[in-house]
Amino acid sequence: MIEITSLDMIVPAAGIGKRMKSVVPKQYLKIFDRTVLEHTVNTLLSSHYCNRVIVAVRDDDPYFGKLGICQNPRVKVVTGGAERVDSVLSGLREAKTEWVLVHDAARPCLTQTDLNVLIEKSLQVDGGILGCAVRDTMKRTDERNGIIHTVERKLMFHALTPQMFRREQLIKAVIKALEDGVSVTDESSAMEYSGYKPLLVEGRADNIKITQPADLKMAEFIISSMVEG
Ligand code: CTP
Ligand code: MG
Repeated sequence: MIEITSLDMIVPAAGIGKRMKSVVPKQYLKIFDRTVLEHTVNTLLSSHYCNRVIVAVRDDDPYFGKLGICQNPRVKVVTGGAERVDSVLSGLREAKTEWVLVHDAARPCLTQTDLNVLIEKSLQVDGGILGCAVRDTMKRTDERNGIIHTVERKLMFHALTPQMFRREQLIKAVIKALEDGVSVTDESSAMEYSGYKPLLVEGRADNIKITQPADLKMAEFIISSMVEG
């Protein structure tokens, strides 16, 4: 373990989960005895590198206050915003550590190994993100799905979370991107826009983001395999 000040870890959890089509937002659906959000937050809290977990929830969220983690003194809640980036920025303003890590509430299958590798590698450069290599042949199409050409798969990755950066650099980068009207779909995109070159740290492909209904069963299967093996 590298000796560093521990990290404030931000969890954007203020989405409505439109694609999941459930009444309860997906971060509050249950996998076994706990909500998706609790699985995610507990994984982060268990890390040796974790100082606090800062969870961004909607201002009218009726669910978070009922969870056990809400009583944990190392868990801090802040109000999220209209877009994911607004929720992250709200968490960043509460964070105090030199380095911070951002991890989607909807990714409950993160392993401690991936978390540790990301932290240790990101610290040695200007920050980094977990990603996994694209496996399938990639096609670029026109609006009507006519295939224009095949995109070279080599050096193509899916961007996952966590993503880890120096807090002050990330806040500046996010604000700059927002001011310039640049779309910020993840923290790395803001850093890239500011001229940084974050490291892509290869992680497990089963660090899935629960997005559609079938993903919940998939996450349940992944988590049960982790416990067994
Ligand atoms: N998120 C957030 N604030 C928002 C939108 C999203 O904190 N205004 C969070 C979600 O809660 C989720 C993460 O960002 O943990 C990744 O976003 P996504 O998977 O897109 O979740 P939702 O936006 O909730 O889902 P959808 O896009 O289907 O509505
Ligand atoms: Mg979304």
